Amino acid sequence: MTTDTQILTALRAQPEGVSGADLAQRLRVSRAAIWARIEELRSLGYDIEASPHRGYRLLHSPDALHADDLMARLGAEVIIGREIHVFQETGSTNDVMEKLARDGVKEGAVVFAESQSKGRGRLGRQWVSTKARGLWFSVLLRPPLHPLAVTQVTIIAATAFRRAIHSQTGLPVEIKWPNDLLIRGRKVAGILTELRAELDSVKYVILGAGVNVNQEQSDFPAALRAIATSLRLEARMPFSRPALGMALLRELDADYARLREGQFARVAEEWERHCTLLGQHVAIQIGDRRVTGRAEALGEDGALLLRTQHGRLERIIGGDVSLER
Ligand code: BTN
Repeated sequence: MTTDTQILTALRAQPEGVSGADLAQRLRVSRAAIWARIEELRSLGYDIEASPHRGYRLLHSPDALHADDLMARLGAEVIIGREIHVFQETGSTNDVMEKLARDGVKEGAVVFAESQSKGRGRLGRQWVSTKARGLWFSVLLRPPLHPLAVTQVTIIAATAFRRAIHSQTGLPVEIKWPNDLLIRGRKVAGILTELRAELDSVKYVILGAGVNVNQEQSDFPAALRAIATSLRLEARMPFSRPALGMALLRELDADYARLREGQFARVAEEWERHCTLLGQHVAIQIGDRRVTGRAEALGEDGALLLRTQHGRLERIIGGDVSLER
């Protein structure tokens, strides 16, 4: 933990105030060094009161993403988010993570960007990543899975992110298989799962997520306005991105632990309760192929089980889903 992380952790743990002497002793640095870091944190937008009686008090945190702050909020026990990098601008956080993964970075590392110039979605689509309006991030995972079961990772991420968004905002968030989160029928978040694998084992998975948080209508290109939304538009109030970012990573950490412990079925149950497609007649476009049928359930490996009109059960592991009339 850096000095800033330790200071922010201490200030959050004691909202009534912490003395400079106390901080200096705990961090084994001088009081002058603490003062210098407090000044630096203030310049980053943290409103920290210094009073002779109460010591330092954290009054307000900025809506900007700071790696130290996010790590401080997450605590030391998590795997996801134990290492966080924040970029002001990048091409795609998935590409940044790909380089880190090849350099051997540990699983759980997270890369956020305030804006992306080449954000991408599934099926080669562009992902609009307006500066400081949303959460654009990638997580590195090294799951003990067969490559064909990697859909499980997307499923646990959708489940965890749905729960985090709902608990932070109270909004009714639904899952559209496999990777979209919708509010009142409009897309609020998407997940892009990319992997590097041998024939029978996964080397790593890069889980990219985009969450539309504080966009106004005008932040979306005209073509997206009818199908995309943000938490701010739905709740008619802005949300703190660092607080939401922390909740997303914490819930992902919890569900990823379940996946690793062989408890995917528990997460799948929660997923099924919030998936809008189950029981419905759907059409799935998989490249040039179009399959239609009734979405019946989630398979043990995370595939969607589709009952076709001929009564066959098909396992679908990817594609573009739409409701059939
Ligand atoms: C989709 O719904 O098609 C998936 C969208 C995923 C977007 C995120 S934003 C962070 C990460 N970096 C990218 O280039 N894409 C993902």
